[in-house]
Amino acid sequence: MTYTPAKADQFIRENKHLLRSEYRLNYHLMSEFGWMNDPNGFIQYKGEYHLFYQHYPYRPEWGPMHWGHAVSRDLIKWNYLPVALAPDKPFDRDGCFSGSAIEKDGTLYLMYTGHIVTGPDPKNDYYQIQNLAVSEDGVRFRKVDDNPVIGLSHIPPGASRKDFRDPKVFRRDGRYYAVLGSNDGQGNGQILLYRSEDLIRWAFVCVMAKSDGNMGDNWECPDFFELDGLDVLMFSPQRMPPQGRDYRNLHSTVYMWGRWNAVDETFQAEGYAPMDQGFDFYAPQTTLDDQGRRIVVAWMDTWETEIPTQNGHYWAGALTLPREMVRKEGKVLFKPVQEIERYRGELFQIRDLILDGETELAAGGDSYELEAVFEARDAERFGLKLRVGENEQTVLSYSTGDGVFCLDRNLSGIGPKGVRETEVPLCDGKLLLRAFVDRSSVEVFLQDGEKVMTARIYPGERSLGIRAFAEGRCSLASLKKWDLRI
Ligand code: FRU
Repeated sequence: MTYTPAKADQFIRENKHLLRSEYRLNYHLMSEFGWMNDPNGFIQYKGEYHLFYQHYPYRPEWGPMHWGHAVSRDLIKWNYLPVALAPDKPFDRDGCFSGSAIEKDGTLYLMYTGHIVTGPDPKNDYYQIQNLAVSEDGVRFRKVDDNPVIGLSHIPPGASRKDFRDPKVFRRDGRYYAVLGSNDGQGNGQILLYRSEDLIRWAFVCVMAKSDGNMGDNWECPDFFELDGLDVLMFSPQRMPPQGRDYRNLHSTVYMWGRWNAVDETFQAEGYAPMDQGFDFYAPQTTLDDQGRRIVVAWMDTWETEIPTQNGHYWAGALTLPREMVRKEGKVLFKPVQEIERYRGELFQIRDLILDGETELAAGGDSYELEAVFEARDAERFGLKLRVGENEQTVLSYSTGDGVFCLDRNLSGIGPKGVRETEVPLCDGKLLLRAFVDRSSVEVFLQDGEKVMTARIYPGERSLGIRAFAEGRCSLASLKKWDLRI
């Protein structure tokens, strides 16, 4: 089959009526039809936020990658635009893989990976090269004649000649740079750095960071940026082994902080941490907007897990809420962008409720924001149950003994199960919990964004209850819940 953007658009138009609404999200970006994975090309261009995404429109499963495209004025309400890229050239024949966007002299540039299959076993017989597409209107894209702009000859000795993908292009110290995901061919993920003056001619600079043997065998989707004086390298390591409660998913996402040396063009890492402590958060990408905010979005699913909408729903894949990364008192915090608050509807509120046992709240729903302040007092465990119905609940709980927060989706409905835990200290004896529930997702922000946990859940449509509970006595000092509808 030959692919073009126009064919993809026509297919989507003609088949959209098949979508089943049951798990469709209200205020998150999803694929319009068919499959979605990584966010790509996240940028603010001519006043609008653009998000592209890895897309296979023809089935709700991964296939020859296209770039889907949506725009927004406020990062919450998105409108779909025509499919931006299809695998229709010799240099991207088997897929337009992940990449990024940058503006130069008013022109929008997309830099993406061309995936080329070279033999009978597509899982092993392939290579990858980096291409550019340009646009003057932010809607229609033209692939440049010089493609590939970073080819196989640019791969340094000792780097994989197959896994060489996901360019994130950025400007720093008056030059263009791109970071690329790679591995050393010996089971260690690494990031390669390239430099350019004009976005067309590129030179290899260095291996910017590499696994110490405990950080996964291949690194995907890198990003590099400055956050209030700190240099941050973000990436998605595949098959990173667990470390205590962290990195419990098959594939992880990490941000590494340290110092960029502009003279040597090197990065000195000082530490690293997970981006998210839940189940479904992969391949994040950031952009810097005109308010100076560093905003990150990720694919709100991950590889090799069950996605129930693949069966009979005609779609699979969504992106997280855009989150602002903020540096405060030596910590990096993740906060939902404040624009989401414009969509707050009816408010339900409680103050100073003493909890000892379980209480059903006179509120419910499947699309809302909830903000709770718990005073732990002498409770051993306390928390909330969301999307409660017959034999169904998603449990958020805090145990005071070890200071561990737990997200439990064992009874969340259909779909994958399990628990994730993360340590988070109380602040003056209090836990501040902010949760965003949207049909088939929940994102929990703890202590103002010190930790975040993201999970897809697939409860029945009638599982709408909310309960608060405590083992021992605690106080629910305040709870506010707003319906969110676009
Ligand atoms: C990450 C990833 C990228 C690749 C893309 C293909 O999820 O594996 O490395 O470019 O997905 O769809």
